[in-house]
Amino acid sequence: MQQLHPSIHSKDLPSFTDPLHLRKDHDSDPPSDSEEYSSSASDSGFSSSSPPTLQLSDHGDASTLSESSRDPIPRNMTVLDIRSKSVESMADSAHLARVVAQTLSTRETVFPASSARFDAEQNGKRAFNNYNNNTAGVSTPIQDVLVRSIPTLVLYDDNGLDIFNDITHVDEYYITNAEMQIFKDKSDEIAQAHVGNNGVLIELGVGSMRKTRYLLDAIVSQNKSVTYYALDLSAQSLTQSLQPLALQFPSIKFVGLLGTYDDSLLYIKDHLARDNGSTRTLLWLGTSIGNTTRKEAAEFLERVKRLAMQDGDVLLCGIDRRNDASVVKTAYDDPKGVTRAFILNGLRHVERIFGGETGELFPLSKFEYVSLYNADLGRHEAYYRSLEKQRVEVDVDSLPHVFEFEEGELIFIEYSIKYDAEDIKRLMDQSGLRWAKEWLDQTERYSLHCFAK
Ligand SMILES: C[S@@+](CC[C@H](N)C(=O)[O-])C[C@H]1O[C@@H](n2cnc3c(N)ncnc32)[C@H](O)[C@@H]1O
Repeated sequence: MQQLHPSIHSKDLPSFTDPLHLRKDHDSDPPSDSEEYSSSASDSGFSSSSPPTLQLSDHGDASTLSESSRDPIPRNMTVLDIRSKSVESMADSAHLARVVAQTLSTRETVFPASSARFDAEQNGKRAFNNYNNNTAGVSTPIQDVLVRSIPTLVLYDDNGLDIFNDITHVDEYYITNAEMQIFKDKSDEIAQAHVGNNGVLIELGVGSMRKTRYLLDAIVSQNKSVTYYALDLSAQSLTQSLQPLALQFPSIKFVGLLGTYDDSLLYIKDHLARDNGSTRTLLWLGTSIGNTTRKEAAEFLERVKRLAMQDGDVLLCGIDRRNDASVVKTAYDDPKGVTRAFILNGLRHVERIFGGETGELFPLSKFEYVSLYNADLGRHEAYYRSLEKQRVEVDVDSLPHVFEFEEGELIFIEYSIKYDAEDIKRLMDQSGLRWAKEWLDQTERYSLHCFAK
């Protein structure tokens, strides 16, 4: 494990970190109503030869932190590199390149016939090699097919995190406002009942931490002292998001953790001591649980319970419900195209980890974003569609890989899975966690659940 701040060596920085990307002040700069969203996901707006983002001192002087964040690091804040060296971490881009080369080489993700139907209904498209024209000229999906995939985590490089933050300001993306409202209204109650004095808060996949602020405020108002551990995939993003919080809440100790969810469980198990029987409050917000399959989610929660929790600890988990299909579809395919830009940025990131120039391997003229809500399965599905027959060649570890895409072929990138009461019950049964409480937002579209060990 490595301490990234204040002493850090630039060679140790995650190559996951983007080329220079100056962070916008999102709260004052949401996409305007009239504009279509444009971001560096476009072929032209991204320079692959830009210098590295972070310039950090390697002798304990925190005053030269980064290009975009020149404020001194507050004393109550540190960022640790917890990427596992023994188990290859997906937050390591050399390893990620190997994994992506492998997932692009095989068709292993099921694209159900029902999703083909929803793609046709919602996007007017016919899934490749999956349709029969019957005599009345109506196309019907005939079978489930297997498609290639790219790990969802590639969406969250520094640029992706910035675009995701823009998504959280999009009105159609109701999820953030709903969760924000729950935290605004219920933080006092949550802090009172579920955060112990001298306790530890651990948030998985923090993003910009906009909601956490309400909970921290309540904790401080109740004169509780806590250490807050914030996990995410980018050192730059962690630093930029933690800095203002650390300044605002000097009585709280902030520890950024650079790594994956699995890295964090190993870190918690092996390195996080329990002082004076202090309790742990884990947070997994933004319906991030929906980005894993139901089975993976249950398996992950079981690992969280086994490796990171003791009796008395809780996990506060924000989960989107099975809402009206058109509401969900618009949330993930907003009129300004912010989500589209977010998903397409994933291809820019893949190009970079393969060592390609922007637009060289996956030009955006040859791929499109496919968004569909499969109401039968209660999940939004995101894919790339190859717009023509094409061939992409890359070298990984000096070994050549060739990917040949058919016209219309889909590449899976992200699920956003929705949960009803039955789904939650099954999640509890399979993970072994105990359902303790739920807070609903005013629209009753979204829930914050409290799961206990
Ligand atoms: C859906 S966003 C939610 C962000 C924030 N919690 C919110 O509520 O707005 C998912 C977050 O988890 C992070 N993330 C995704 N996969 C991860 C993984 N395998 N390990 C660690 N963080 C991950 C992303 O970088 C991103 O910040």
